Amino acid sequence: MTEIRKHWRLERDADNIAWLIIDKAESGANTLNHEVVVELDAFLAELELEPPKGLVIFSAKPNGFIAGADIHEFTRIETEAQARELIHRGQGVVNRLEALAFPTVAMIHGFCLGGGLELALGCDYRVADDADATRIGLPEVRLGIHPGFGGVARLPGLIGAPAAMDLMLSGRSLSARAAKKLGLVDHAVPARHLREAARSLINTRPPKHRATGWRALTNVAPLRPLLGAMLRKQVAAKARPEHYPAPYALIDLWVKHGGNRAATLLGEEASVGKLVTGDAARNLIRVFMLQERLKTLGDKKLFEPKRVHVIGGGVMGGDIAAWCALCGMQVTVQDRKDETLAKVVQRAASLYHKKLKQPRLVTAALDRLMPDKHGRGVERADVVIEAIFEDVAAKQALYRDIEPRMKPGALLATNTSSIPLEILGEALEQPSRLVGIHFFNPVAQMQLVEIVRHAGTDPDAVARAMAFTRHIDRLPLPVASSPGFLVNRVLMPYLLEAVNLVAEGVAPQVVDETALAFGMPMGPIALADTVGLDICLSVAEILSQRLHVEVPARLRDMVAAGKRGVKTGEGFYRYEKGKTVVTKAGKADFRPADIQDRLMLRLLNEARACLREGVVADADLLDAGIIFGTGFAPFRGGPLHAIEALGADALLEKMRNLHQSQGERFHPDESWLNSEGAAQQRLIT
Ligand code: NAI
Repeated sequence: MTEIRKHWRLERDADNIAWLIIDKAESGANTLNHEVVVELDAFLAELELEPPKGLVIFSAKPNGFIAGADIHEFTRIETEAQARELIHRGQGVVNRLEALAFPTVAMIHGFCLGGGLELALGCDYRVADDADATRIGLPEVRLGIHPGFGGVARLPGLIGAPAAMDLMLSGRSLSARAAKKLGLVDHAVPARHLREAARSLINTRPPKHRATGWRALTNVAPLRPLLGAMLRKQVAAKARPEHYPAPYALIDLWVKHGGNRAATLLGEEASVGKLVTGDAARNLIRVFMLQERLKTLGDKKLFEPKRVHVIGGGVMGGDIAAWCALCGMQVTVQDRKDETLAKVVQRAASLYHKKLKQPRLVTAALDRLMPDKHGRGVERADVVIEAIFEDVAAKQALYRDIEPRMKPGALLATNTSSIPLEILGEALEQPSRLVGIHFFNPVAQMQLVEIVRHAGTDPDAVARAMAFTRHIDRLPLPVASSPGFLVNRVLMPYLLEAVNLVAEGVAPQVVDETALAFGMPMGPIALADTVGLDICLSVAEILSQRLHVEVPARLRDMVAAGKRGVKTGEGFYRYEKGKTVVTKAGKADFRPADIQDRLMLRLLNEARACLREGVVADADLLDAGIIFGTGFAPFRGGPLHAIEALGADALLEKMRNLHQSQGERFHPDESWLNSEGAAQQRLIT
């Protein structure tokens, strides 16, 4: 017997076990919105009246169980009262599920995140598919909130407070096996055994899992404040409460009410209600939506490359090749030097050990990465990525050699950071096929990839480059072929201003600390040392030929003296074994009042100039590019969004003052005079 509604259907089998299946209409993934929750509630009410032997909840979507609450619904919440109502309704249905008089099982595959896991926590038992695709977690903190559908109330009791708080504070997700180890799921089995595992739990009704021993003790009143203090310290090392209030609110809630189910549920409702309507959550939700938008720019079905050939096995080419192979591509990597190719494989092996852990997966990934000194892979590649020296003649000579050997429809991409594509394309018979796929260093950590087009680029090549980017799990940002593209152009004035401040006698630590206080993930001086001062200098010189960018003499002197940053053991800081050695350069007590303004206004001003010039198509893409390309304070929602929040008029006033006191580099971009511009182009608020 099957009963079908819009998002759920209920089947009863011959043993009177009810199978409740979620398949959210018009959606690729299951998320919990108002309709889905109301429908579930109605089904549970029916089951209360006609109890089955047991209930199994699972998903009909191939990609997973439930990916969480519907984030689009969050963006429509205007008041705390509306938020509390939504949370209350969600909690109500999970409570109802938990109170059912017959055994209940969540049968999990793929994504089981946020509200999806909280729903599963309302079941008596959980079984999960042990495939790699299974991801179980509570990532709410990344959206500036914390679990609200009973996660804080239930998880510590199930697996002990240390593991529960770690999951909720980090937002990380677990494989089925890791979840089984913690006691979060009862069984992790191959997909084909899932139904049997669920059925057997219903038939045998073993005791429900609970944290025992010391794990249970961590949840009691005398220990909670102690553990809470430790957790606050750990969180403080990563996020400031004024920037990211959610983890602190979560700790406070658990310390205060942890042992008391009803009080914790009420506390969840009040706390998430407040957080979700606050600035940090609104901006982090915005960042999530911006990320979704970048993902949709690349249509994976449009182009399904299997073979990639990378030319140049240096810092970038080597890591690009390794990353593509990690993502399942067959990769050949070409370099003139054998020892460079050997290093590529060595670096790849350590990346794969870190990411894949299981030896058989590491071996399979390494098998996909083939050193290819003579470039034989060119002929068979669907995508050829050139990442050799930043030299026009060398790149053009290479293109002349490879173009006739490439497959007719293959994509030709350059990783150049500064040479106009028009110039590189002059060496090609078909310049329209050339596109920039500009990765950032370190490739394995930087999600963003700029997709660069020149006036003659075939739009189809751009679309295929974006599709390829999605196949290797990076975020494509389409940009025009103008100096520095978007990310380096916006970042560089900020880095150079930091160098100016140091040259004036401000300690590097003071400069970096000021940027951290604004919310940047790393100080500009530490960043310059990490990127390499030689690379900063070369980008700065290229930008200085076209823009208001003066290259500080200090930067030139340091590079000339061989101080190139982390890689040479000395830049603005000194490094031993890759770690910073604390030095006392500069006067730690010399802190001009305008350090933050000088740093940030150069960045914000350049962002406005890029939007005005059309380097990217709209304000959201600009904000997305700077957040994912530089780590710009996510809780501020991007540079253009931050300008609105801080007040464009007030910032312009500061720019004018700095223009007078510091000179041309603070010349306000003409777009400041038309503050409406950025706001008008925004789609995601
Ligand atoms: P690199 O100097 O580390 O590596 C270049 C490699 O290319 C060397 O191993 C060299 O042996 C090889 N090579 C040169 N000519 C070749 C040829 N004709 N055939 C085969 N191999 C050849 O350079 P890096 O830093 O990896 O830069 C490569 C490209 O990526 C440049 O266009 C650069 O502008 C761009 N880029 C660099 C970034 C960085 O942070 N280093 C960031 C983003 C882009």
